[in-house]
Amino acid sequence: MKNGLEDGSIRSYVRRRYEKAALQGVVIAEGAGCCAPGQSSCCGSSGDLTPEQLAGVKQLYETPDVLELPKEVTEIALGCGDPVTLASLQLGQTVLDLGSGGGIDCFLAAKRVGPGGVVIGVDMTPAMIDRARANREKLGAENVTFRLGEIEHLPVADGTVDVILSNCVINLSPDKPQVFREAFRVLKPGGKLAVSDIVTRGPLPDAVKANLAAWAGCVSGALEEREFVTLLEEAGFVEITLAPVALPREVIDEAVEQLEEVDRSGLPEEDVYQAVFSAKVTALKPA
Ligand SMILES: C[S@@+](CC[C@H](N)C(=O)[O-])C[C@H]1O[C@@H](n2cnc3c(N)ncnc32)[C@H](O)[C@@H]1O
Repeated sequence: MKNGLEDGSIRSYVRRRYEKAALQGVVIAEGAGCCAPGQSSCCGSSGDLTPEQLAGVKQLYETPDVLELPKEVTEIALGCGDPVTLASLQLGQTVLDLGSGGGIDCFLAAKRVGPGGVVIGVDMTPAMIDRARANREKLGAENVTFRLGEIEHLPVADGTVDVILSNCVINLSPDKPQVFREAFRVLKPGGKLAVSDIVTRGPLPDAVKANLAAWAGCVSGALEEREFVTLLEEAGFVEITLAPVALPREVIDEAVEQLEEVDRSGLPEEDVYQAVFSAKVTALKPA
């Protein structure tokens, strides 16, 4: 139970929300990350990327490799950062992406690790896995596989992964300590975690935290930055870093818009800009 919401209800709602995204087609608009339900600017129908949408992709990713990906991949990008660049991947590594969605970070990672490396994407939404596998076919990315599963119960053997990536997914989990324990389990000794995610500075009002739509839109489930670090430490990680990523104000505006159905009287709008932000997080499993 989280903020009056049942874990099962959160998971079902999140899965339905991202199933809809996978089936309808989603675009990054003006740098938007996790997209909010009902936002036509973000969850529009798929088609050629407009110049603004392309600018959004460029804004989110530091690597120019993203511009080489076909629109079938970039239009279903729903992240809030660039964990692939953060990870400094090496040729030959085994990489795992938690909540891989349409596969954008898996395909970027596949290029970095080369044909001698392996990339595994795990996602709990069957329609997202179908979409990612179709993208894999289109790209001929032979070193990438997608597995249906929950990040709290990873379908991956112990101590087999060099680097774990995740882009705007951990905030959606109703059981974050379990996500970090699983990440620790599957990493090799000395393995690295590189995560982009929404975090908060200070608590959000209860009405916001108890709203399922705001949870699925990556706001209510976000950890406070200190709690993020504490949970990683409790799972056994060391050398933890957490730094904010500057997101364009429009991205935060989109997150704020989805709170319209919530009583935000305890949360003046300006505070939201400071309270909710995207962070890049790294951590190591001790060697
Ligand atoms: C905001 S999208 C991000 C997708 C992808 N990382 C990207 O950057 O485009 C969240 C994805 O995580 C998946 N997801 C959410 N919670 C999950 C969980 N507990 N276990 C596995 N997948 C999950 C959803 O199905 C969805 O595809």
